[in-house]
Amino acid sequence: MLEAVMLVGGKGTRLRPLTISVPKPMLPVAGVPVTEHQVARAKEAGVTRIVLGTSYKAEVFSDYFGDGADFGIDMRYVVEDEPLGTGGGIRNVASALDSGPDDPVIIFNGDVLTGLDITGLVQAWRDADADVALYLTRVEDPRAFGLVPTDDAGQVTAFLEKPETEAEIVTDQINAGCYVFKRSLIDAIPADRPVSVERETFPGLLEGGAKVIGYVDTGYWLDLGTPLAFVQGSKDLVKGIAPSPAVPQTGENLILNGADVDPTATVGDGTVVGAGARVEAGANVQGSVLFDDAVIGSNAQVTDSVIGRGARVADGVRLEGVVVGDGATIEAGNELLAGARVFPDVTLEATSVRFTSDKS
Ligand code: GTP
Repeated sequence: MLEAVMLVGGKGTRLRPLTISVPKPMLPVAGVPVTEHQVARAKEAGVTRIVLGTSYKAEVFSDYFGDGADFGIDMRYVVEDEPLGTGGGIRNVASALDSGPDDPVIIFNGDVLTGLDITGLVQAWRDADADVALYLTRVEDPRAFGLVPTDDAGQVTAFLEKPETEAEIVTDQINAGCYVFKRSLIDAIPADRPVSVERETFPGLLEGGAKVIGYVDTGYWLDLGTPLAFVQGSKDLVKGIAPSPAVPQTGENLILNGADVDPTATVGDGTVVGAGARVEAGANVQGSVLFDDAVIGSNAQVTDSVIGRGARVADGVRLEGVVVGDGATIEAGNELLAGARVFPDVTLEATSVRFTSDKS
């Protein structure tokens, strides 16, 4: 038996308005929810049970995965009435774990897409006889991340906040959102109050002399927290750059069952056309995600954008780097660029040409 926990209780505020109706880990990338890609990879690595730590829109997960039988893995759910943060979320699932005190339990953040060698991470934890093993990745520009330096033996030496000066950039290693915990350490996290695993649990373990090791894996890694990253992750899955056994088919695009793409339309750069969605004559859709039942009118140009379920983009409209909420309508004559977000069911009327900034 090998148990894993997935933290999927966040509100996903950076991905609004998409996360108004669907929690971030259940948004579809390359045709299936982010969580399903993680479940498939965990199963491939020998995980036999996954406990989902849910809070925001908890029922969406259990409605989809049920007891996990359809996905070949045992799935359980623990719901937080009030979000308990990442550490509190880990502590809160303890009652659903059957692992013994010295057994490994894998924890996954619910919003990262990785090519992590999960088996390698667990083996590193065993080999080092560690309390916690952290998956670390290297980034070119570490300024936006908390840093995790390690010594020559791989022991984590500090958890540093985002660096503000060049001198504070002591490593390019960052926490990549997956850990192996010795079960007894999960039980030791304070119960019934919010706890941040990054800010409280990990630094506390170091202070208390715990063996916390870093496992650097430089394979594919992407945090799907922002609209641009979400689109990038979906493209990478469709093109086979991000590995997942749950991608129905890799290629230049992924046209799901029941979608209708006019033969004169161009759909490429990893675009997904959702079930029941329609792309009309002469439209050009690149690097985008069209949720189910979305409609792209003739000669529209849509690039690096997410078009919500049942949203309608009229003939000739140009969208680039835009999020259109479920059921919204963009009438003819509009042009939206650079981070514009249209909220669900809103109608942008005809001929109002807009150049918007990065504000919602
Ligand atoms: P933003 O609001 O856009 O920052 O997104 P988020 O709410 O998902 O927060 P963040 O990206 O920091 O969360 C990292 C992971 O932890 C995600 O998979 C979240 O679903 C999960 N998470 C965050 N807060 C909680 C919580 O309070 N409880 C549980 N169970 N999971 C959480």
